[in-house]
Amino acid sequence: MKLHNPNFPALLCSTFLHIILLFTVTLLYLKPATSSATPTNETDRLALLKFKESIDYDPYGILSSWNDSFQFCNWHGITCGHRHQRVTTLELQGHNLRGTIPPYIGNLTFLRAINLQNNSFYGEIPKEVGQLFRLRDLNLTNNTLGGEIPTNLSSCSELRHIIVSNNKLIGKIPKELGSLTKLVSLGVARNNFNGGIPGFLGNLSLLIIFSAAYNDLVGNIPESVGRLKSLSYFAVGPNKLNGMVPSSLYNISSIRTLSFSQNQLSGTLPENIGHTLPNLQWFYLSDNKFFGSIPSSLCNASKLQKIDLSNNSFVGSVPTNLGCLQDLYFLHLSMNKLGKDLDFLTSLRNCSKMNVLSFVGN
Ligand SMILES: *[C@@H]1O[C@H](CO)[C@@H](O)[C@H](O)[C@H]1NC(C)=O
Ligand SMILES: *[C@@H]1O[C@H](CO)[C@@H](O)[C@H](O)[C@H]1NC(C)=O
Ligand SMILES: *[C@@H]1O[C@H](CO)[C@@H](O)[C@H](O)[C@H]1NC(C)=O
Ligand SMILES: *[C@@H]1O[C@H](CO)[C@@H](O)[C@H](O)[C@H]1NC(C)=O
Ligand SMILES: *[C@@H]1O[C@H](CO)[C@@H](O)[C@H](O)[C@H]1NC(C)=O
Ligand SMILES: *[C@@H]1O[C@H](CO)[C@@H](O)[C@H](O)[C@H]1NC(C)=O
Ligand SMILES: *[C@@H]1O[C@H](CO)[C@@H](O)[C@H](O)[C@H]1NC(C)=O
Ligand SMILES: *[C@@H]1O[C@H](CO)[C@@H](O)[C@H](O)[C@H]1NC(C)=O
Ligand SMILES: *[C@@H]1O[C@H](CO)[C@@H](O)[C@H](O)[C@H]1NC(C)=O
Ligand SMILES: *[C@@H]1O[C@H](CO)[C@@H](O)[C@H](O)[C@H]1NC(C)=O
Repeated sequence: MKLHNPNFPALLCSTFLHIILLFTVTLLYLKPATSSATPTNETDRLALLKFKESIDYDPYGILSSWNDSFQFCNWHGITCGHRHQRVTTLELQGHNLRGTIPPYIGNLTFLRAINLQNNSFYGEIPKEVGQLFRLRDLNLTNNTLGGEIPTNLSSCSELRHIIVSNNKLIGKIPKELGSLTKLVSLGVARNNFNGGIPGFLGNLSLLIIFSAAYNDLVGNIPESVGRLKSLSYFAVGPNKLNGMVPSSLYNISSIRTLSFSQNQLSGTLPENIGHTLPNLQWFYLSDNKFFGSIPSSLCNASKLQKIDLSNNSFVGSVPTNLGCLQDLYFLHLSMNKLGKDLDFLTSLRNCSKMNVLSFVGN
């Protein structure tokens, strides 16, 4: 009778191994869940080196400082958080860089701001940007980026500003962006977007800027936009929009710039517009199908600087009180059906800043 199994140490060893194996397997199994927590500053360094690699023209040698003589937190355009020494901002605006944005950017887990404005980045916005769940600012204005806005940008729930104006982006403004309830600016102007102005805009209650000029957008301006109580800048022309402008839009007292120019929009201006839009500064309606008379209450929108109502179907006489607009310097009323009564000109003598005044074609 053996009291001791001669294989006991071996057994113990194998059990130990088994445990280690189990542990390892468990770790492997858990990897997808833990990987977002485990990337280190080395992940960031690698991602930045991949970024540098994808730049094929750097006329000012901006990225020459991205080398091993410096810790990456000291590389030009990089800011790191104090606690983790991980990249929090990537700011390389206005350096005439030409290149692509590599998918590795999605590994910069701590990134809060990307600003690549005024360069020549081409290719697509990598969908991996959707992994940057701390991202607040994305500014890619004035590059030559193509493709669509990646829908999984909607996973970046901290986003405040998405500004991708002046690129070659196509497709629709993705409906998925409707979940980004912290959005303050959405700038998509000067691209090749088609489709409509999304109805979800009205759900972005913190929105201040919506800029979609110079695209191929069709359809109506959604009624829901009238719910945006902080909206200050709303510019949707030129595009191919049609239908009536929802009157609720003229009720948003925070609006400073309202631009509908060069669409097929129609409707009348509310009698009390000068009272409901007291902060209005720039008011562009040119080249549309607006009709009715020009409300004399415009005089109460005392901050007005530019008014362009040209090439519409406005009728009646021009209000004779516009002279009360002390800051008015641009008044374009040409190509309408306004009466030839020029009494308003007398009043305009008060507008000492007046620079452009046009009334031809009435
Ligand atoms: C690293 O960048 C600095 C600053 O641009 C430069 O002075 C230095 O020569 C570079 N070092 C290497 C190894 O390229
Ligand atoms: C990366 O982190 C390690 C451990 O915290 C630290 O020792 C090292 O200096 C860091 N390296 C860089 C490039 O920040
Ligand atoms: C981008 O370029 C425009 C036009 O040259 C300039 O007004 C603007 O300040 C530039 N912005 C940045 C951040 O470089
Ligand atoms: C970083 O991103 C790239 C491409 O998206 C991926 O292939 C790579 O495995 C990622 N992880 C690390 C740790 O670099
Ligand atoms: C775009 O950026 C370039 C520099 O890359 C600058 O010269 C140009 O003025 C900018 N255009 C606009 C409209 O900001
Ligand atoms: C976005 O898409 C990329 C590529 O399919 C994927 O790796 C990433 O996990 C997605 N991001 C999110 C937050 O879903
Ligand atoms: C706006 O939000 C409401 C309430 O959360 C939701 O039911 C609706 O579908 C949203 N509208 C759009 C167009 O996303
Ligand atoms: C505009 O606001 C006024 C006063 O709050 C309200 O009576 C009116 O119904 C609103 N009009 C629209 C079209 O929302
Ligand atoms: C609108 O402006 C006129 C002319 O300046 C002024 O008499 C009137 O009191 C103003 N109305 C309001 C509500 O501010
Ligand atoms: C123009 O200015 C004069 C003198 O300041 C003032 O009496 C008059 O009411 C003003 N006219 C208008 C239309 O505001």
